[in-house]
Amino acid sequence: MPTIIATWNFGIKAVETGWKVLSNEGSALDAVEAGIREVENDLSIHSVGLGGYPNIEGVVELDAAIMDGSTLSAGSVAAVRNVRHPITLARKVMENTSHVMIVGEGATKLAKIFGLYVEEVKLQQDVKLEWEKFKESLSLSSKPNSLELLSKALSKQIVHDTIGCVAIDKFGRIAAGTSTSGLKFKLTGRVGDSPIVGSGLFANSFGGATATGLGENIMIHNLSRLVVERISEGLSAREAVKVEIERITKNGKRFNELAVIALDKNELFGAASTFDKFEFVVMSDSMKRPTTFKLERKHTFVAF
Ligand code: GLY
Repeated sequence: MPTIIATWNFGIKAVETGWKVLSNEGSALDAVEAGIREVENDLSIHSVGLGGYPNIEGVVELDAAIMDGSTLSAGSVAAVRNVRHPITLARKVMENTSHVMIVGEGATKLAKIFGLYVEEVKLQQDVKLEWEKFKESLSLSSKPNSLELLSKALSKQIVHDTIGCVAIDKFGRIAAGTSTSGLKFKLTGRVGDSPIVGSGLFANSFGGATATGLGENIMIHNLSRLVVERISEGLSAREAVKVEIERITKNGKRFNELAVIALDKNELFGAASTFDKFEFVVMSDSMKRPTTFKLERKHTFVAF
């Protein structure tokens, strides 16, 4: 029985679109890509796609990755500019090159080849206003690119929300994908966990997981890979997210502002978070419609 899960309340768009693919006997990979494209298309979502917040220089730089658990193949792009659908570009890397990850200028070249390049990217009006305010708030006394700018900017960075999606199809194949504009007003060239296989996403034939939150913390723990490893050892998705978030939290370092969602081959799902609030959306044959689950932080972490 197919199942699809996605991060945050805007994950509903990914789940609805991906579910159409799955219920027409489409693959988990197609469902994840189609679902994430839908979120990338929505310019009112400011943490994903070309409607996202820019880096400190006012340029939108995007990260995305996709992984096919049935073949253990993955594709990823990071810090790409002027790309409409980074998730599709990531899939092109996976299926049309012998590489896993392509960044920067090389990724832009690929985007041109595959018709994913957008000549002009304009910041959304509200995003532009916020960015201008942000720049003013830095009240720089010295030249841009100085150490002063870096330290002021770093102290003001704010967490944002990645679209992460995991699906299992009728044939039991599992896929996972992520897409984000990264940390709001990040330093130019900063890359978070989302395009890093093992950190932002992982899938194999036993399960799949994606993470969201502060990439700098998620990357240190290699969160998605660890969760899928626990699933491969026999835990359910729900047990796996609990065990891993509990372990990270007990460790006491770099555990804040992160969440992980997971799905196992028995179509069981789970999510755990150290956010104050975290939401995720699920659809499966046993549900009438996509359902949003809310995690409220009660202790140090919560698992669904
Ligand atoms: N979790 C996404 C990022 O930190 O960029």
